[in-house]
Amino acid sequence: MLRNAIIAALALAAPLALGASAALAAPPTGQSLYADNCSACHQVTGKGVKGAFPALAGAPIVQGDGKLMAAVVINGRAGMPSFKDDLSDAELTGILNYVRGAWGNKGKPVSFADISSVRAQSNAKAKARGLQAH
Ligand code: HEC
Repeated sequence: MLRNAIIAALALAAPLALGASAALAAPPTGQSLYADNCSACHQVTGKGVKGAFPALAGAPIVQGDGKLMAAVVINGRAGMPSFKDDLSDAELTGILNYVRGAWGNKGKPVSFADISSVRAQSNAKAKARGLQAH
């Protein structure tokens, strides 16, 4: 009896364990990266929190020039942290394109090359500031 119960328990647990490891192994998508890095403030709905975190759903910057949007996320702005050191160009491309197409947004896709060039500009500015300080 006990043996059967153990076998039944194992049979139930095995697919759960497999499911969990498959979820861990799946590469992150723009959506999952957004959930991990942005949704605490801008919310999974993209609606933000009134008076604190602006909505990304329907925001003009999210549907306009991709490089301007990338500059905000790479450099940060006011109460928004910089993601320069936390996210790769590939990850940023995925997140920005998710946001630009989610919640009814109609932003044109931004390319990996756009993100890389915004990062290079921001690094060059940081370097110039560093030189001035000496
Ligand atoms: C700690 C909270 C926080 C997190 C996390 C955060 N943001 Fe923000 N975000 C803000 C705030 C606050 C602003 C408004 C900044 C300002 O007033 O200039 C903002 C502004 C923006 C804007 C400009 C909106 C506009 O209408 O001008 C974009 C685009 C944006 N965030 C995207 C993102 C993305 C993409 C991520 C994840 C990689 C992210 N944010 C993570 C707080 C956050």
